[in-house]
Amino acid sequence: MRTPLIAGNWKMYKTRKEAFAFVDALKDLLATFDPKRVEGWICAPYLALVGLPEALAGTSVRVGAQNVHQDKEGAHTGEVSLAMLSEVGVEAVILGHSERRADCGETDRAVAEKTEAVLLAGLTPIVCVGETLEQREGGQTAALIAAQVSAVVEHLTRADAPEELASKLARLVFAYEPIWAIGTGKTASVADASTVITGIRATLTRGLGSRAEAVRILYGGSVKPDNLGAFLAERDIDGALVGGASLAPDSFAALLTVA
Ligand code: G3P
Repeated sequence: MRTPLIAGNWKMYKTRKEAFAFVDALKDLLATFDPKRVEGWICAPYLALVGLPEALAGTSVRVGAQNVHQDKEGAHTGEVSLAMLSEVGVEAVILGHSERRADCGETDRAVAEKTEAVLLAGLTPIVCVGETLEQREGGQTAALIAAQVSAVVEHLTRADAPEELASKLARLVFAYEPIWAIGTGKTASVADASTVITGIRATLTRGLGSRAEAVRILYGGSVKPDNLGAFLAERDIDGALVGGASLAPDSFAALLTVA
């Protein structure tokens, strides 16, 4: 059984003051909620990460970042390492979000290397894949998503991959986010999302064998408390990566309750 996962991606929203006010309000809302049946993650901007895990102690909600550098340390101006994230209690990292692929030129190769580094550091990678509207209309969705997923899996399972990686592969999380559905109020249809996500699991199974069954695959793109249930009812959809609707404590709490 895969535990449902709701990951909020705050993107470049919330100052530290706003982040901690969110947590205070969320804790009040979660006071009557059984946290054991769902995992909640808040993936906050770097500055808001410091102190956030401590502020969320006693809840089921954990803390993630939105990017990381794959090297242990080095001359990489403006970057943050996994040791820096771990030190402040961060447990997950979103990788390869379409906004980073578009804004920062992040490649499949870089996403694969970051995924390996995150797993080896003992954190959870949330690897994003997705197609543009043009690619969808051109009938390229299935091939494109398979290529994005394969780039990661082939890197993780290559012949000279560190041995300790193999035992960590089941901790992978993928998120299918059709780019045209992000922040637009338009979701993929449940049937379309389900078809793509079933395809992702098939690609994972080809690369990882039975370990693919443990990998969680999320849907992202205009998810709200009132449409989440329909996605989660699908066998292969294990949760959601949520932008806008994760920013208000009441709607984030509602997402956890639906899940
Ligand atoms: O990573 C989550 C995101 O890209 C979806 O954003 O605002 O459409 O839920 P939103």
